[in-house]
Amino acid sequence: MKQFQDAVLITGAGQRIGYYLAKSFLQQTDYPIVFTYRTHHPQVDELVALGAIGFQVDFTLPDALSKLVNQVKEQVLSLRAVIHNASLWLSDEKIQTEGGGRNFNALFQLHVEVPFYLNRELTPLLKASVSPLKDIISLSDASVVNGVSADYVGYGSSKAALQALMKGFSKKLAPDIKVNDIAPALIMFNEGDDEEYKQRRLAQSALGIEPGPEVVWQAVQYLMNSPYTTGTVLSLDGGGK
Ligand SMILES: NC(=O)c1ccc[n+]([C@@H]2O[C@H](COP(=O)([O-])OP(=O)(O)OC[C@H]3O[C@@H](n4cnc5c(N)ncnc54)[C@H](OP(=O)(O)O)[C@@H]3O)[C@@H](O)[C@H]2O)c1
Repeated sequence: MKQFQDAVLITGAGQRIGYYLAKSFLQQTDYPIVFTYRTHHPQVDELVALGAIGFQVDFTLPDALSKLVNQVKEQVLSLRAVIHNASLWLSDEKIQTEGGGRNFNALFQLHVEVPFYLNRELTPLLKASVSPLKDIISLSDASVVNGVSADYVGYGSSKAALQALMKGFSKKLAPDIKVNDIAPALIMFNEGDDEEYKQRRLAQSALGIEPGPEVVWQAVQYLMNSPYTTGTVLSLDGGGK
């Protein structure tokens, strides 16, 4: 049953930044929210209680993408925006030692194949939006611009490919749909990060703070409200040092 007009689709919104974005849309805008999650965190129920529709998806499973697109098309008449947030943050060591050799592919599935497929398959729903502005936004990583870490070469390469993909789609989909990337450095620490690690990460930016997900929300709002910004990578890195 089709329900939503001008919805915003966010991938990987079951926790942290994606959850914060979904909740901010629900509480501060009229856009309906559809989102994907892999793990059923308590935040999933919170978003559903606020009116969102959630689809449980593991993007590394066969047919996950085509199934998701069919589910979205059943619930959504048009899309105001698509936000590619789902991500895997893996060191090169973990690519080698965990995941039975499938981790390298998973990085490129999540950061390249999923956005490519969704951009292509969801273009008609975006074009059907009554809004004069329509957006696709991805979240990559500031390290692509500032220098990929020696310990995260696989991850950094997949996020570099994501930036290239978004620039390409900005040309392919112009002038109907704006396509931009946000490249964050430290936004929020993970549970269990130790003090030494935290101090090292904080020292990497000029501003030296852990800003929290509000700054990503502000960047998303800027991109969605700007009629003249497409094909850009918006650095969200507290200033280089
Ligand atoms: N947090 C930061 O400081 C920071 C810095 C630089 C860039 N970024 C980027 O900003 C975005 C959001 O960051 P975050 O820290 O909030 O991300 P995150 O928590 O690491 O990941 C976002 C979501 O992606 C989902 N995901 C992982 N593998 C998946 C799979 N195979 N299929 C479907 N979903 C999957 C996760 O689901 P589960 O809940 O099941 O794990 C998770 O909820 C990401 O693109 C990240 O790369 C964040």
